[in-house]
Amino acid sequence: MRNEAPKNIWNLNLFKGKVCFITGGSGTICSKQAEELVKLGCSVSIIGRNEQKVLETVKRLTLLSGESTTIEEKIKVIGIPNIDVRDPSSLHKAVSTTVDKLGRIDFVIAGAAGNFISDFNHMSTNAFKSVVDIDLLGTFNTVKACYDQLVLNKGSVIFVSATLHYYGVPFQCHVGAAKAGVDALCRSLAVELGTVGIRVNAIAPGAIDGTEGFARLAVGDGKTGGKSPIERFTEKIPLQRLGSVMDIANATIFLFSDAASYITGTVMIVDGGFWHMGNFN
Ligand code: HXC
Repeated sequence: MRNEAPKNIWNLNLFKGKVCFITGGSGTICSKQAEELVKLGCSVSIIGRNEQKVLETVKRLTLLSGESTTIEEKIKVIGIPNIDVRDPSSLHKAVSTTVDKLGRIDFVIAGAAGNFISDFNHMSTNAFKSVVDIDLLGTFNTVKACYDQLVLNKGSVIFVSATLHYYGVPFQCHVGAAKAGVDALCRSLAVELGTVGIRVNAIAPGAIDGTEGFARLAVGDGKTGGKSPIERFTEKIPLQRLGSVMDIANATIFLFSDAASYITGTVMIVDGGFWHMGNFN
C-alpha cells in the first residue's frame, strides 16, 4: 500500500496560461493547492485576511515559479491581503486587481474558513454566525465576485468542505452547519451554472496532517495504551495513514483538469476511507 501521497504525476504544462483565484490562499491546505498549480504552469492570486501570511506565501511561490524551467510562459504569483470574504465589495476589488494583473480568472478555490472548538452552551450567536459567514456566505460571495470571469472562460470552481457534518461531531456545530451548506451550495450551483459552462465541485478533506484544523481536533481521550492520540487515530483510518496536503492538491489538479470535464456537483471526499467506517470508529 502507498504510504504517502504521490508526487510529480501530472503533465508540467497542464495549466499553462490559466489563472486561479484562491481565498484562504495562505492557509496550509490552500497554499499547497496553489503551489502545485504553479508547478503546472498556473498563475495564482492569493487572497487572505492576514497580510504577513499572504506576503510570505507569495514570496515562497514566486521563488518556485522562477525555478520552473520547463514552462515557456511566465507564471505570475500575486497576493491581495486584507480581504475578508464576508465583505463582497472587497472581494470584487480583489477580482478586479487579479484580472488587471493576471489578465483573467479560470479557476477559483473558495478556501477561506474559520473554526474553533466550542460547546453549544458557550457558543454565542455571534460566534456561530461568524463561522457560517466566513465558510458559507464567504463561499457564495467568492463565486459571485468571480462569476463574470468564470462565464467568460468557462471556468471551474472548487469549494473546500469537510466531513464532520456527516456525523454529529461535538463542539463543531457551527462548522458542521456551515460546511453542510457549502455542500448544498456546490450541488445547486453545479446545476445552475453548468448551463453556462462552469463546473462547481467540492473537496472534503479528512484528517490532514499539519493543518490547524487537525491540530485542534486531534485530542486524545486519555486512554492512550502507550500510543499517541495521533497514532491511535491513524489506526482507525482504512488506508492507515493521515492525509497530506499533497493528497488535497492532487484532487484539486484532477478536478480542474480536463480529465474531470464531465464532473460537476461532486463532493470529493479525501479522507482515506475514514467516514465510511461509521460506527466502527
Ligand atoms: C467560543 C469564540 C471563540 C472560541 C471566537 N469566538 N473564538 N467563541 N470559543 N474559541 C467568538 C467571539 O467571542 C465572538 O463572539 C465571535 O466568535 C467572533 O469572534 P471575532 O474574533 O470577533 O471574529 P473574527 O475576528 O472574525 O474571527 C473569526 C473566527 C476566528 C472564526 C472566530 O477564529 C478566525 O478568524 N479564524 C481564522 C483562522 C482559523 O480559524 N483557521 C482554522 C481553519 S481550520 P462574541 O459573542 O464574543 O461577539 C478549518 C477546518 C474546518 O476551518 C474543518 C475541521 C475538520
